[in-house]
Amino acid sequence: MDARPIGVFDSGFGGLTAVRALRALLPEEDIVFFADAGHAPYGGRPIEELRRFSVNNLSFLTAHGVKAILAACGTVSSVAPDLLAASEIPAIGVLNATAEALHRLPDTGPVGLIATEATIRSGRFAAALACEHEVIPVACPLFAPLVEQGHTRRDDPQLLAAIDSYLRPLRDAGIRTLVLGCTHYGLIDDALRDYLGADVAILEASRCAAEQLCEQLDRKAPSGKRGTLRCYTTGESAVFAHYAPLFLGEDLQQPVTPVPLTEREN
Ligand code: DGL
Repeated sequence: MDARPIGVFDSGFGGLTAVRALRALLPEEDIVFFADAGHAPYGGRPIEELRRFSVNNLSFLTAHGVKAILAACGTVSSVAPDLLAASEIPAIGVLNATAEALHRLPDTGPVGLIATEATIRSGRFAAALACEHEVIPVACPLFAPLVEQGHTRRDDPQLLAAIDSYLRPLRDAGIRTLVLGCTHYGLIDDALRDYLGADVAILEASRCAAEQLCEQLDRKAPSGKRGTLRCYTTGESAVFAHYAPLFLGEDLQQPVTPVPLTEREN
């Protein structure tokens, strides 16, 4: 039994989809969430930069005494799997968990994979999914910035225009399963569902990874007490504090701690 908190990181709000899933699955666990929002969006950045951010994010959470780390980020999971594997504290990404969940579906049909440019460019997520059906990868560079700016409502005109331009080829190809390969996309799943219709199954990478972590974890002793959630961000802490409760489905019990970018870049 291990009473230390779980660490979760992402470039921003997307990681909260994993935190939300973890808080539902493991209500007693304490969680430290680190949003590197000062560097968001990650998806269009060069690999070397993303790998540097990944090292920083892992060491930030390690220094906060966590027992396990969830890289709740499809981009980091795709460009830095070796860094996650080498982490001092056990760290998992979202690729394997999502692939395993996909393979458990009775019939996936043709699969659409939507994710950031860096994820799609790496080819690793599509390769990990490899299933008996075709996997059609589509980069959606506008989605994460739209989420970071709060354009998540299912009737948001900018969001709907972006969805139409990215998902039309997938809808035309008759996909039966859509994999949300970027954790930010769980925050626009209503609009994605509306667009594709109820017959298309949606698999959220962040939820799959949270479930996998839950299976692997050495949990703390049951106490009946709700676990704490401590949030840190390199972005605007007021913006984070404003949107986080909407995305988490619960109020923040503690103030969001700002982390200066300069300090993290040393
Ligand atoms: N949420 C992250 C991912 O899953 C990063 C999105 C971004 O910052 O571009 O890829």
